[in-house]
Formats: sequence, C-alpha cells, structure tokens
Amino acid sequence: MNILILGSGGREHAFAWKISQSPLCKKLYVAPGNAGTAEIAENIDISVNDFSKIAHFVIKHQIELVLVGPEDPLVKGIRDFFAESTHLKDVKIIGPDKQGAQLEGSKDFAKAFMSKYQIPTAAYATFTKKNLQEGKEYLSTLKPPYVLKADGLAGGKGVVILPELDKAQETLQDMLLNEKFGEASKQVVIEEYLDGIELSVFVLTDGQDYKILPSAKDYKRIGEGDTGLNTGGMGAISPVPFADDAFIKKVEDKIIKPTIEGLKNENIHYVGFIFIGLMNINTEPYVIEYNVRMGDPETQVVLPRLKSDFVELLQAVAEGRLARITLEIDPLTATTVVLVSGGYPENYEKGKNISGLGDVAEVITFHAGTSQEPPHIFTNGGRVLALTGLGNDIRDALTKSNQAAQTIQFEGKYYRKDIGLDLMKEPK
Ligand code: AMP
Ligand code: GLY
Repeated sequence: MNILILGSGGREHAFAWKISQSPLCKKLYVAPGNAGTAEIAENIDISVNDFSKIAHFVIKHQIELVLVGPEDPLVKGIRDFFAESTHLKDVKIIGPDKQGAQLEGSKDFAKAFMSKYQIPTAAYATFTKKNLQEGKEYLSTLKPPYVLKADGLAGGKGVVILPELDKAQETLQDMLLNEKFGEASKQVVIEEYLDGIELSVFVLTDGQDYKILPSAKDYKRIGEGDTGLNTGGMGAISPVPFADDAFIKKVEDKIIKPTIEGLKNENIHYVGFIFIGLMNINTEPYVIEYNVRMGDPETQVVLPRLKSDFVELLQAVAEGRLARITLEIDPLTATTVVLVSGGYPENYEKGKNISGLGDVAEVITFHAGTSQEPPHIFTNGGRVLALTGLGNDIRDALTKSNQAAQTIQFEGKYYRKDIGLDLMKEPK
C-alpha cells in the first residue's frame, strides 16, 4: 500500500525507517520530512496542518494509510476531516479524532477524565481569569514546588514549576490575565507536585484492544545532571530498568485498562498511540500527562526494538484487528543521543554544514532538523540528529551513541554526555 507520514522530526524519520523495511509498503511519502526521510521516502512540501492539500495528495497518489506524527493536526481534527469526506473516509488514519486528541489538547480535559475513571494522578484544580483569586488561594494550600500548566497546546513550554508561592501566584496571574502562553493559558491547571522518577509507556489501540510497546525514559533538560531549560528531549533509553514486569503490570491495571475503558465509555473511538507520561513514586505509577502520539526522541529507541512488521501492526490497528496480533520485542537495550544546535532551546542558527555522517557505522542515524542540497546536509532545526545505538546493556548501547555523537560535526554542536548514566547506577 501507499503510505503517507505527516511530520518532519526524528520521530517521523524513525517511522519512515521502520515502514520502509516492510514488504507491505509500496510507496512511502513524508510531508514535509527532512534530509533523512528523503533517503528512504519521497518528501512532499505540504505542511501537517494543511488538510486540503493533504487531502488532494492522498487522493491523487492513492494513499491508503496516513500515520500522523505530531499532535497538532490531531488536535485540529484531521481524522474528523477525513471521516467527513466521501473521498477520504476509507483512508486509514493512525491517530485519534478531535475529541480523543483532547487528552493532549486540554490538560483540564485529561485531568477530569483521569478523575472520573480513578486513574492515579496529581490532585488538581482548574482556574480562569474569573476565579484568579481562588487560584491564588488554592496555591497557598499546596506544598512547594508549585506546578502550573497552560490548559492548551503550548509547544511543550506550557508547564511552569516554581519553588516560591509569591512567584507562582504572580505567574498564575500572568498566564490568566496576560495570556502568557496565548490562548493556551486562558485556563490553567494547578496541580500537586509529584516527586519521583519519570518514564513513558506507549500504548497502541484500535479502540477496543491494545498493545503495550516498550517503555522509555527521555531526558528533557538541556543541561547535564537534568539542569537548565526544558527541551523536546535530548536523549532516550529503552527499556527502562526500573520499569520491570511488576511495575508495568501496575501501569496496565491502574492506568491503561481504565484509560481504554474510559475512552469507550465516553464514546471516543480512539485509534492510535497513547503516550503515557508517568511518575514512579515508590514503585507506584502516577500519570503526569497523556500525549496522543508517539514521543520524540522516544520513538527512536522504541521502534528499533520492535521486531514485528510495523505496517502489518498499523493496518491491524486501523482495521480493529489488534487482538489477533502478537508483538515481538527485541530484548536489546536502545539508547539515543540527540545532537542539537548551539543555543537551543533558545535562539540558534540554521544552515550549518554537517560532516561525518558517513563515518558512523554502529548507530542508526535519525535526522530531526536537517535539510539537503546534495551532496551536502545542513542543520535546519534545534534538534538536528538522534543517534541510536543498540547493545546488550545501557553501557554497550551508549558507547555506540556517544562515539557517533563525537564523530559527527557541525558548527555549534552540543549534546548531553550523561544520557542514561543515572539508570546505570539504579539497582535492577
Ligand atoms: P508535561 O508537559 O505535562 O509533560 O510537563 C512537563 C514536565 O513537567 C514533565 O515531564 C515533568 O518533568 C514535569 N511535571 C509535570 N507535572 C508535574 C507534577 N505534577 N509533578 C512534578 N513534575 C511535573
Ligand atoms: N519527548 C517528549 C515528547 O515527545 O513529548
């Protein structure tokens, strides 16, 4: 079948890498893609939010399956757009409809859903500018640090964690009255701080049944030792050593099953990935957030461990046949180290020539922000490349990722040299 992937990051390159290995894929397109996807698929110059151009392309090129990478088109209702069109309603889309995508598109929706279905998460309350004063009072009843979340999508920047009450109250006011995060902070969720170790679990569902994909841990901060500004993700490891079978069983019973049941109960026909951001507090899982897509760079460590045919799996998801599929997961450990442009996540320059790509042999090189002018490849984003190593343990896999991170060069290159080190200290 002909397949279209929407997106342009490392996650989409990992999707394309895996899909291009399937004999079931005839022609693969990525919109808009990057220099990495251009090597294995055809990039098309269409934005992920331009639904009418996507629709024309899908019809003209007889696309049977669309895999949506980022959350934005899902929250904007790409699935609903296809369902409402006579020409597109039979196209298989991997990703939930607008209502299901609210699990990521509105923190208040997600918290209310968890509360209704008794899914463990931090205690919370939601405020608007009408009850700003109550919000300030609510903050004063909590213990520091204070967690404030813009309700809507804010490009991963909508969460503020502050140690001081007066600063938290000031920020709440700024978010609500001055719309610090635009429309997204018209409503603000205030929640209790959860103190534990973070990890992510990924679920693929056809709306009826589900499969649990390998767990992963992502490193969000720019600086070593988890310091500095938040980023999209500087590296990832899969599997997570402390997410043993007993822990995953708890996640399944207390979180995954009630989530799937809750969606059914709300008449949300959810077809796609559910990315569950978790906090492990003394071996008990709590949900920090839902995302309605795969993670980036988590996909770059999860997919290389999936032995099953990915297209067959996605087809089964779209056709409601997931119950009959058995996933085969590689027991090897995967690590990915992300090379970023100097200055990221703040201002950075693009267009730097990348060298050494041909000198790395032991990793899978996933492109994130790259562009090409053959034979040259240039930086074209904050996160530039994700270098995935596979090995018998974290150390083994990391040696490969780090070696490649050293070899590849571009002006301003930066990467964290401590990805995974915390997990090597962790007793199994
Ligand atoms: P989110 O966008 O909801 O994933 O939040 C971004 C980051 O903020 C998470 O990855 C956590 O590191 C942190 N965070 C969010 N909510 C909480 C919480 N209730 N307690 C502690 N940390 C949190
Ligand atoms: N790496 C975190 C995310 O994809 O949201």
